[in-house]
Amino acid sequence: MKFNVITFGCQMNVHDSDWLIRAMESRGWEAVEESEAEVFVVNTCSVREKPEQKVYSVLGRLGGYCTKPGSFVAVGGCVAQQIGDGFFEKFPFVRLVFGSDGIAKAPQALEELAEDHNKKLIFNDFLTDYPEREKVDSSPYQDLVPPGIGTITGQAFVNIMQGCDNFCTYCIVPYTRGRQKSRDPEQVIEECRNLVESGVREITLLGQNVNSFGMDSGGTGVSFADLLYKISAIAGLERIRFTTSHPKDIAPEVITAFGELPNLCPQLHLPMQSGSDSVLKRMGRKYDRKRYLEIVDGLKAACPEISLSTDIIVGFPGETDEDFEDTMEMLEKVRFESSFSFKYSDRPGVAAVKFKPKVSDDIAQKRLTRLQERQNHITRESLERCVGRETEILLERPSRKQGEGDIHWRGKDPWGRVVNVPLSGITDDDSLGGKLLKVLITEAKNHSLFGKKVGNPW
Ligand code: 5AD
Ligand code: SF4
Repeated sequence: MKFNVITFGCQMNVHDSDWLIRAMESRGWEAVEESEAEVFVVNTCSVREKPEQKVYSVLGRLGGYCTKPGSFVAVGGCVAQQIGDGFFEKFPFVRLVFGSDGIAKAPQALEELAEDHNKKLIFNDFLTDYPEREKVDSSPYQDLVPPGIGTITGQAFVNIMQGCDNFCTYCIVPYTRGRQKSRDPEQVIEECRNLVESGVREITLLGQNVNSFGMDSGGTGVSFADLLYKISAIAGLERIRFTTSHPKDIAPEVITAFGELPNLCPQLHLPMQSGSDSVLKRMGRKYDRKRYLEIVDGLKAACPEISLSTDIIVGFPGETDEDFEDTMEMLEKVRFESSFSFKYSDRPGVAAVKFKPKVSDDIAQKRLTRLQERQNHITRESLERCVGRETEILLERPSRKQGEGDIHWRGKDPWGRVVNVPLSGITDDDSLGGKLLKVLITEAKNHSLFGKKVGNPW
């Protein structure tokens, strides 16, 4: 069968789609462009904005393709979890709905539905344990994946848990992804080992809150710090990263790991959400500014050059001008290298829906613009400080923008910064993905760096 996967949302969804594509390819299915596909999978996200509308409009479009017998759509992810069999009623060509814990069963279900055109299936139950997925070919690849999926040669993601128990008052994730379920550490380590054997050099461990790994019924006594040390010891693994971390759960051992593990990248995404103690309290984050800054100091002591990034919500119900100024002040104190910032939006069923007063969209937008402008400056300054330094990048793929003459490749430095570099004597067909290259940074752009290769590596 020819199939196409459309993915919305976070890194975890991108990774889930990637796994699903590989699982279907191992069954002889072929990933193709939307216009050529017979079966479609829409992997949805509902963390922010109006995701249902977005999904409905995509389904409307896909319905136009589902005219041949046997052609159908599967809807997975957070919106599938929320709307459930409502999709079957609204869209007759939708024949599979699977929530977060149901994805492990999706490949088999897709096969069944391709055989039996009258069947419909739904997997929306939350499970108590991490649903281990079938193993797929983990060799790094690029050509097999339709554009937008983001699989990068030499680099891979590994799930270590699913769900979240934190119930931050603005967040829908615990409702759509269910309770936290840690994966068996031995399975995680085995997957990492297989990836490294197949040529992967960089692994990013994924979970909604990786720092509380093992602290649920799936736990086997192995903490997140233990897991990091074990994975770090895999011979041939050049780089490890992990995301996402909740500040309240980051253990001292994880902080010191940044000074001890040579292949743990000096980079951490540590969502702050707000710099105001009263807003943090109402968000249910269970830390305050002081604690957040203590963690940052600890990280900088362990790893002075660490690059920090964060998530920030502006316009949370009841956020005053002063609260917002507190957030702006934290930008100066921490000097995040980058931040992802959002206007608060009510998500169905979360506690903050009832919180008052709501901040007007006009004020929230003004705050967002101010914050983003300031952040852009700080980002630019951090990048400018890199000019003149030598670093090593893991090559990913040809750069989107090509200059004249030499082919440009894009890679990441250990801090997670994107570096574009022209490479002479390289042709379009040369696959350099996964190779490490020494570069001298020659120029800072707004969100990336430009460099030139040092020495002659090939
Ligand atoms: N409104 C705005 N932003 C939100 N996020 C999560 N829920 C909401 C919401 N209701 C943001 C948080 C989180 C990121 C993934 O999305 O900053 O860290
Ligand atoms: Fe949502 Fe909070 Fe869990 Fe993050 S930690 S997924 S913000 S509930």
